[in-house]
Amino acid sequence: MTYETIEVRTEAGKVGIVTLNRPKQLNALNDQLMDELGTALKAFDADPAIGCMIVTGSEKAFAAGADIAAMAKYTYADVYGKDFITRNWETIRSVRKPVIAAVSGFALGGGCELAMMCDFMIAAENAKFGQPEIKIGIIPGAGGTQRLPRAIGKSKAMEMVLTGRMMDAAEAERAGLVSRVVPIDKLMDEALAAALSICEMPGLAVMAAKEAVNRSFEGGLSDGVMFERRVFHSLYGTEDQKEGMDAFLAKRKPAFKNR
Ligand code: HXC
Repeated sequence: MTYETIEVRTEAGKVGIVTLNRPKQLNALNDQLMDELGTALKAFDADPAIGCMIVTGSEKAFAAGADIAAMAKYTYADVYGKDFITRNWETIRSVRKPVIAAVSGFALGGGCELAMMCDFMIAAENAKFGQPEIKIGIIPGAGGTQRLPRAIGKSKAMEMVLTGRMMDAAEAERAGLVSRVVPIDKLMDEALAAALSICEMPGLAVMAAKEAVNRSFEGGLSDGVMFERRVFHSLYGTEDQKEGMDAFLAKRKPAFKNR
């Protein structure tokens, strides 16, 4: 399988590594990338030689969010009609073997949400996490309003979602968003060591453990995500969504009108 927006390789014959690769757009997550990521993860999941996966980005960006250039022209009818994001964003949740996010640089919006869909995160010292959707007239739409409060508590999550402020790696570790922070040049070594240690564990127990922890984490999540998706879609009916995205693309300050 040839991919255009990701790079795929294996380490030691048992760890599947996917590197997000749209460097010019800071790995902005478009449909093609999410489709390719889903296909690659499913293939690793089905491969009996693979025991664990790692998703990573570049030094500058894990992923700077969903692709604003693609989203800017969407209408409410588009996003509701096609149930925007369901198609390929949910794939990662159906993967049964563990997926580690190795995060360096920006993990914003859908990028932060993608990292949170992984089973745990190891962050480089330069990692920055945020849900800045509010600044472009929408809200997180891939589980961010549900997973962030579960991960770091309501107050911090609410502040981040309402103000769009970013959290650095040290704060993310204190808050419990990432399992640990490592020097940037050690990020892949550390993620790989963790993956290899998981590969040493009994595979069925690994899958069962993952399933059990997720059961704890995800109780009541479906309703929350569905509610979030409907609200997310409805914001495509606002003028401020158009203004926010247009302003971002034109590199000017948005003039919001609260309508
Ligand atoms: C499309 C993006 C992008 C994005 C960056 N780029 N983020 N393109 N979608 N999310 C592009 C820029 O337009 C620019 O293209 C190039 O990547 C480099 O970005 P710069 O802004 O020049 O870099 P820098 O000044 O270093 O700033 C980095 C940044 C900033 C802070 C990460 O790019 C930024 O704020 N990006 C948007 C972050 C964001 O709002 N994410 C949430 C998206 S909404 P050119 O062509 O000019 O070089 C979302 C909703 C998810 O994720 C809902 C579920 C699907």
